[in-house]
Amino acid sequence: MKRWRRARQHDMAQVIDWIDSPRQLEYWAGPGLSWPLEQRRLWREIDGAWLRSRALSGDGHLLAFGQISLRAHRRCHLARILVAPGHRGQGLGEELCRHLIHEARDRLQAQRITLNVFHDNHAARRLYHRLGFIESGTLDERGIQPMILLTDEMP
Ligand SMILES: CC(C)(COP(=O)(O)OP(=O)(O)OC[C@H]1O[C@@H](n2cnc3c(N)ncnc32)[C@H](O)[C@@H]1OP(=O)(O)O)[C@@H](O)C(=O)NCCC(=O)NCCS
Repeated sequence: MKRWRRARQHDMAQVIDWIDSPRQLEYWAGPGLSWPLEQRRLWREIDGAWLRSRALSGDGHLLAFGQISLRAHRRCHLARILVAPGHRGQGLGEELCRHLIHEARDRLQAQRITLNVFHDNHAARRLYHRLGFIESGTLDERGIQPMILLTDEMP
């Protein structure tokens, strides 16, 4: 059975198993994180305890992970969206993002929800477009594309 819960530091043990290279780490979490990965350091570097870190688990295993940060008045930012490699392409990424979007909109009253994605991360961009995110601003020199969702315009 699947359930949502707060993510904890020990979830990083599973996350670390899913990330095979510094490039994958960057795709998932953005630039600047330490490699090789270590559970406590990773949790600290992604501000695990300070941001709203959410986990979807199934039968005791982590299936998906993501974070919300409150960035400004009525603006939230989604970060570190991740689905277990063996469970991708089955809609879990969409379920994860919808969960985070609803929390941002309904609990934090977010009108604007932003995220950053590498422009060549095609699976992630397809997912965000499907959810209604649109490109906002231009690519930076690292190839990162900011995107935005206006919750007033959600169906
Ligand atoms: C991005 C990610 C969260 C998507 O999770 P998911 O569970 O596969 O998502 P969904 O099944 O809901 O949808 C994925 C979409 O990408 C497509 N897709 C999956 N793998 C793909 C690939 N390798 N290339 C292109 N499209 C791909 C799926 O077909 C689907 O597209 P659709 O809209 O046509 O149905 C997952 O691939 C992941 O964890 N990636 C690594 C971490 C990462 O890059 N996070 C994003 C940070 S911004």
